[in-house]
Amino acid sequence: MHDFSEQNITEAVVEALRSTPSPRLKRVLTALVRHMHDFVREVDLTQEEWSYAIDYLTRTGQIEQRPEYILLSDTLGISVLVDAINHRMPAGATETTALGPFYLDNQAELPLGFDLGDGLKGEPLYIEGVVSSATGAPLSNAIVDIWQSDDEGFYDVQRNDSSESKLRGRFRTDSQGRFYCWSIMPKSYPIPEDGPVGEMLRATGRHSYRPAHVHFMIAADNHETLVTHIFVEGDAYLDSDAVFNVKRSLIREYTKESPGAAPDGTPMDRPWRKLTYNFGLKPVAKKQAA
Ligand code: BEZ
Ligand code: FE
Repeated sequence: MHDFSEQNITEAVVEALRSTPSPRLKRVLTALVRHMHDFVREVDLTQEEWSYAIDYLTRTGQIEQRPEYILLSDTLGISVLVDAINHRMPAGATETTALGPFYLDNQAELPLGFDLGDGLKGEPLYIEGVVSSATGAPLSNAIVDIWQSDDEGFYDVQRNDSSESKLRGRFRTDSQGRFYCWSIMPKSYPIPEDGPVGEMLRATGRHSYRPAHVHFMIAADNHETLVTHIFVEGDAYLDSDAVFNVKRSLIREYTKESPGAAPDGTPMDRPWRKLTYNFGLKPVAKKQAA
């Protein structure tokens, strides 16, 4: 076939995909072609716009400091959509959010009560919670990974002054599913805006801020690993998160506490804050667990 036109090019490409051996790949690619062609027709895409788009995507792939494509997916709401489709949670299970670019694997396990913010300036924060199955049973030996921004809104990996892990750590729940540690209050922060994503945010009149939060990744036997964050109630950016991750159920008051003994017995001589959040994990289907 030849002489393709506005009218017949879509069906010609779909026909070319007809013998794709993998049914899933065939379905995904066919839908992608149909939607992309419809998009080009709908907006009457100009040659200049097409060239700009190719250049934009090329530059996005050339950013070496971070996975800029993930950030693009985050800021266009695609990450949240994929997450929502893949994590339809049962009652009792905590809602999920994106992992984000600042998670580091292979953290050493720390004793309960460890201070992740030791030596850093900021308001002391006590973090505590119970990890349970969505069915209600507490989960001992669950691995709780925690990471967050500092008092100025930076993650340790964004600081050039140290290669040491700061404000991140891994804990193991006790026999009653409990975990607790110390940290400092996280701060709201802008996502990186010196690349193509920043260009898109500026061109669309959007800001780049995320509301203050602490990240959690929680893994337990026979349960789906939970990736989520808990946001600070009252933050100015809760209704305009640059990456659309805020969910009502994940906003908590980080309560203001007076000097005195903290729940783990630590004597506090100045005001401190407390975050209590009990997490529910979704059991894996029996077949998968086996
Ligand atoms: C984060 O919270 O670490 C994050 C998530 C998505 C994009 C950028 C940052
Ligand atoms: Fe974050």
